Amino acid sequence: MKKVLLVLLALPSRAYKQSLGASLELQELLSSKSVAEATRLVEEELEGSTESATANCHDYTCGDGWAPKPNHADLPGSSDAECCQQTCKLFTCSKGFVPNPSYATNVGSSAEQCCDKTCEGFSCPAHLQVAPQKLHSAGNTVEECCAETCENVTCAANYAARAERKAKVHPPGEAQDFCCAATCALHTCSAGSVADPTRLHLTEPSDEQCCKSTCLSAVCPKGSKVPAAKEHQVMTSTEQCCDTLCGGYTCGKGWHADPLREAKFGNTDQACCTRTCSVFACSEGWASNAEVADFVGVSDEVCCKKKCVQYQDKCTGDYAPNPAANDTVGDFAEVCCSRTCALHHCPAGKVLVPNPKDAVGSTDDLCCEDVICSDFRNKTVVEDSTKGCNGLTKEKCGSSKVELTNTRTNKTDVLACNWSIWGICSLGPGHVPQERPCQVPNGNFIQSTR
Ligand SMILES: *[C@@H]1O[C@H](CO)[C@@H](O)[C@H](O)[C@H]1NC(C)=O
Ligand SMILES: *[C@@H]1O[C@H](CO)[C@@H](O)[C@H](O)[C@H]1NC(C)=O
Ligand SMILES: *[C@@H]1O[C@H](CO)[C@@H](O)[C@H](O)[C@H]1NC(C)=O
Ligand SMILES: *[C@@H]1O[C@H](CO)[C@@H](O)[C@H](O)[C@H]1NC(C)=O
Ligand SMILES: *[C@@H]1O[C@H](CO)[C@@H](O)[C@H](O)[C@H]1NC(C)=O
Repeated sequence: MKKVLLVLLALPSRAYKQSLGASLELQELLSSKSVAEATRLVEEELEGSTESATANCHDYTCGDGWAPKPNHADLPGSSDAECCQQTCKLFTCSKGFVPNPSYATNVGSSAEQCCDKTCEGFSCPAHLQVAPQKLHSAGNTVEECCAETCENVTCAANYAARAERKAKVHPPGEAQDFCCAATCALHTCSAGSVADPTRLHLTEPSDEQCCKSTCLSAVCPKGSKVPAAKEHQVMTSTEQCCDTLCGGYTCGKGWHADPLREAKFGNTDQACCTRTCSVFACSEGWASNAEVADFVGVSDEVCCKKKCVQYQDKCTGDYAPNPAANDTVGDFAEVCCSRTCALHHCPAGKVLVPNPKDAVGSTDDLCCEDVICSDFRNKTVVEDSTKGCNGLTKEKCGSSKVELTNTRTNKTDVLACNWSIWGICSLGPGHVPQERPCQVPNGNFIQSTR
């Protein structure tokens, strides 16, 4: 019985399982039936394997990937399972390991026995990383597994490190291409923009990324335009770029829009508009003229009226200059000048004073004198004033006069000599109206006697 159970344990697995079912049956039988019956049953069960159980591994040649067990010669059996050990050749390396052909003949059935570790699990020092191409190859040292990352690459001038690749390993010989990218420094801004000096270091160059718009790309509102001088200035606002054209300027009061200047730059009345007389300042000696307020082509002659100050030197002849009228608007004698007595008409019985053009005025008092006055002026003063008219001949008497001091008025009175009906020359009754003395060249007065 003992022998039977031993045989059962040495059986190959499939047969063992079948026999195990049988042995359970056997145990039941052992408790109820005879040993003879049990032995018969076991022999019945093992009928098919009776032959192998008797074969010896000594005669068995291991299959491919199998190596003979150390005690091969002493073992019963006739299969790889009974007689051989698995070699690494049959082992499939799990993730993180790679097969190594030199282990193929080794006996083993675990990753540790049959495989090499890949670099995938290797921990590289700072600034280094497992090279992607090494991830699935065997390796266990910095030299075998690690490669420089972009962090250690110095980009060429005008190129900048790609931030997202900083920690990545670059393909061999492609450090610059892989780790660095062109910057704005290599970008040529298109017309209407200029490079922004603060963005030269940025990557992914484009006009948007690298350039600032210039005024050339400003869209000016109607009535304004970018002047040539601002075309290449950086645009901060449309207002800053666009200058007003005269066409977009509204002229102030008193100014008319000038069609010829519509396309010129300007934003003042002076630059864009034509002045009318209403905003013209007349020169000295001229007065503004409301009637021509709307006229253009301004000048003193067009917009202003002369003031009398300009006429003063023409106040001649019967007229005299009149400084008081300097500021009066006018351009002819009647308005600008003073009339002299030459223009005056004296009433009956009176005549103009001598040299009436020398006397400025137009009143009878000033300009007229009694007709008698000219008589007096023609007479000569007697030679001997103590004698007066006495003793003069008739002819002499008629042409003589006497000057006497009037003690009442303290003026020198002039009196005519008169040939009387008695044939003598005496101080005559001839009189000059007292209220208006005659004017004489020497400034004295001819006074009536009383
Ligand atoms: C990589 O860079 C680090 C610091 O940035 C430095 O310490 C290290 O020596 C560099 N390695 C190589 C290989 O250049
Ligand atoms: C008036 O005008 C004349 C001529 O220009 C000038 O000589 C004179 O001083 C002026 N008088 C006054 C009061 O303005
Ligand atoms: C006064 O004398 C002038 C010339 O000396 C003469 O022409 C004039 O008629 C005289 N007048 C009178 C009233 O005699
Ligand atoms: C007249 O004139 C004289 C000298 O010029 C003077 O002394 C005298 O007081 C005057 N008399 C009167 C009444 O004016
Ligand atoms: C001279 O006297 C006569 C008579 O007295 C008079 O009619 C005449 O007007 C006088 N002549 C003058 C010049 O005074």
